[in-house]
Amino acid sequence: MRKKIVAGNWKMNMNYDEGLELAASLDQYFSEKAPSGAEVIICPPFIHLAGISQNLKSGNVALGAQNCASEASGAFTGEVSADMIRSTGAEYVIIGHSERRSYYNEDDSLLNKKTVLALNSGLKVIFCCGEIKEEREDGSYFEVVKRQIEKGLFPLAAKEMKNIIIAYEPVWAIGTGLTATPDQAQEMHLHIRELVREKYGTEIADKLTILYGGSCKPSNASDIFSRPDVDGGLIGGASLKKDDFTAIVEAMKQT
Ligand code: 13P
Repeated sequence: MRKKIVAGNWKMNMNYDEGLELAASLDQYFSEKAPSGAEVIICPPFIHLAGISQNLKSGNVALGAQNCASEASGAFTGEVSADMIRSTGAEYVIIGHSERRSYYNEDDSLLNKKTVLALNSGLKVIFCCGEIKEEREDGSYFEVVKRQIEKGLFPLAAKEMKNIIIAYEPVWAIGTGLTATPDQAQEMHLHIRELVREKYGTEIADKLTILYGGSCKPSNASDIFSRPDVDGGLIGGASLKKDDFTAIVEAMKQT
């Protein structure tokens, strides 16, 4: 069985106090209603990580960062290293989110460098991929995602792949209210799994957790999660509201 995951990407939202409060209320919720069968991860801004980490008591909510530096340490003003993230108690880091790719020009080779550093620091990587609207429309989406995976991940050794989670996030569905249909998500997730199977073999491909992200909400989560190659979600906007996020986790538990 593959690990099922629902991860919340808070993006640049929530002041420190608000973030502590949301994390504490989720922790409380999942201490009473354990997300059995699904792992719950929250990915707040960097400055929240240490404080939230100290306050998580249930053991049912894991912590991740949204990005990490492309260098290990040193004179890189304003950057936060993978080692620093790990030292807060965070276990995950999102790498290659489309907002990092497009607004901060992060390309495939830089993302591979970050991925290697994160893995070396003991973090698990949620590696994002996905096509933009024009690529969906011109039919090149399978090729685009293939390139992102091959360049970003395939330099990794098989044992490193075990600490990778892939998130398919069609850019046209992020924050737009448009969602990939369950069929569109399934066919891309299968495509990704087959790419991984060809490169790393069946065991690694079958164990790989592949998340869907893009306007996932309580009303559409169970439909999307019901597909065989969709192993959970990476949730943006709806992860900022406790009731929505917990409802999405409940939808995952029921699949
Ligand atoms: P939304 O759920 O707000 O569309 O964001 C998805 C996302 O980018 C998660 O990383």
